Amino acid sequence: MKFANNILLIFFLLGSTLFLFSCKKEDGNTIIAINSSEKIKIDSLQKYKEPFRPQFHFSPEKKWMNDPNGMVYYKGIYHLFYQYYPDDIVWGPMHWGHATSTDLIHWKHKKIALFPDKLGLIFSGSAVVDIDNTSGLGTKENPPMIAIFTYHDMEGEKAGRADYQTQGLAYSLDEGETWTKYEKNPIISNLVLKDFRDPKVFWNETNKIWNMVLVAGDHAKFYTSKNLINWTFESEFGKNIGAHGGVWECPDIFKLKVGDSNEEKWVLLISINPGAPNGGSGTQYFIGDFDGKSFKTTQKDIKWIDNGADNYAGVTYNNTPDNKRIFLGWMSNWLYARNTPTKNWRSAMTLPRELSLAKINNNYILKNTPVEQFKKQLVSEFSKELLSIKPKQKINFTYGNFNQSEIKFKAASKNLKLVFSNEENDSLVLNYDAAQKNFSIDRRHSGIVNFEENFGKKIHTTAMPNIISETMDYQIIMDWSSIEIFLNGGVYSFTEQIFPNKPYTKLSIQSDEKQEIKNLTVHRIKGIW
Ligand code: FRU
Repeated sequence: MKFANNILLIFFLLGSTLFLFSCKKEDGNTIIAINSSEKIKIDSLQKYKEPFRPQFHFSPEKKWMNDPNGMVYYKGIYHLFYQYYPDDIVWGPMHWGHATSTDLIHWKHKKIALFPDKLGLIFSGSAVVDIDNTSGLGTKENPPMIAIFTYHDMEGEKAGRADYQTQGLAYSLDEGETWTKYEKNPIISNLVLKDFRDPKVFWNETNKIWNMVLVAGDHAKFYTSKNLINWTFESEFGKNIGAHGGVWECPDIFKLKVGDSNEEKWVLLISINPGAPNGGSGTQYFIGDFDGKSFKTTQKDIKWIDNGADNYAGVTYNNTPDNKRIFLGWMSNWLYARNTPTKNWRSAMTLPRELSLAKINNNYILKNTPVEQFKKQLVSEFSKELLSIKPKQKINFTYGNFNQSEIKFKAASKNLKLVFSNEENDSLVLNYDAAQKNFSIDRRHSGIVNFEENFGKKIHTTAMPNIISETMDYQIIMDWSSIEIFLNGGVYSFTEQIFPNKPYTKLSIQSDEKQEIKNLTVHRIKGIW
């Protein structure tokens, strides 16, 4: 066994931050030990400290959650409703759970907003603030908050009828605290389409009209309304375009500027299950034009908002300040959502992300990155301007908090491998293959994977034709049971669940080529609960 040939204890002050780490060399590899300013303390008996409990992502206090619903901002508050089953940690009769936040990071749990009734279970949908009281359900002085959702009639489904999904409306006159179902529900029904759900409603400022998009199996349908109650069918989109490996679900549509130009394009999000590139659920998008009545695109290829396995049913906020387009997805996949090894509660949302459009290689790309507010959660633990890696050399970090950290750096667009591991021999491997221009996530040995056969079956590999720069920006955000990776400011993003037997305490950065890692930072992420 060789002993370290040099050991250096380094203290230095940068601004007001004290970094403490030691650095040594062993077998040609560099070892950097980063001191953690706070230890991860898992405790099954303490709420929000249970094994795998997300520390800075939204998860319900207890029981089952799936899609985000009714995301609307009003009077300084971000409302998040969600598909919720309060009696078990598997999917069951759906309610709308409710939480609020002033910064999209810290959340307050609220009472359940919508309960199933004689028309059915409360499936996914959206919410708006009817500022001009077009619905007549409030007053101009006290505008109603309006939720439009899908009723799923279990009896109808069991009886083999086709008309068991309809759209219902509920309103709140106290800013989302309490809700009343509209007495003449449902507001939209149909007799023939079994899958007919997940309405996204928004105010179209150009046309001065309410718009709705919902999904019907293999396509989307567009509607207009003057009062949110009476809806006119306008057009449909998608029967012969995009991915069709499964049912279309949870649509959203919004306009964004293309980069810094004056060009504007509409983005249509469509979740699909199954049929995603890594199996199971995923969210595709289309870029095109929308005139308030119909959506058109010349797009030929299939595009995915996230290339990891666990970002589904994501939609965006209505009414946000500064017109920001804020997205939240459900951090799971219907393939194994009901089997993940958590107790008391099941699943979490992705970090809130800001969406933007870019044009790369003459191709429109929807980028997503964590919202600005997230930076407030970061505590600096380590930084290094330059780390040179020789071919086959490894830089090995040790740090107690990788499962609650952000790692950022810039590297040459050359081969690079990152391996997170722990003393239990769990390892999570991220790999950029420059020649193939692809990125892969190998969670086959990342921890507990055997709760369902698909979870740890394959390496997830994504081709990345839109990496065209000489350098790559990496941002890696890890919580107790998830990893989110953003490359080049979110041109590509990857979200995956992981269930390590113990937190990862080692990170090895390696390459078979000469590499330079620049502006490396490691931050601890403060918990929010
Ligand atoms: C998507 C979805 C929606 C439906 C809801 C039911 O995950 O299947 O289409 O409204 O979940 O919980």
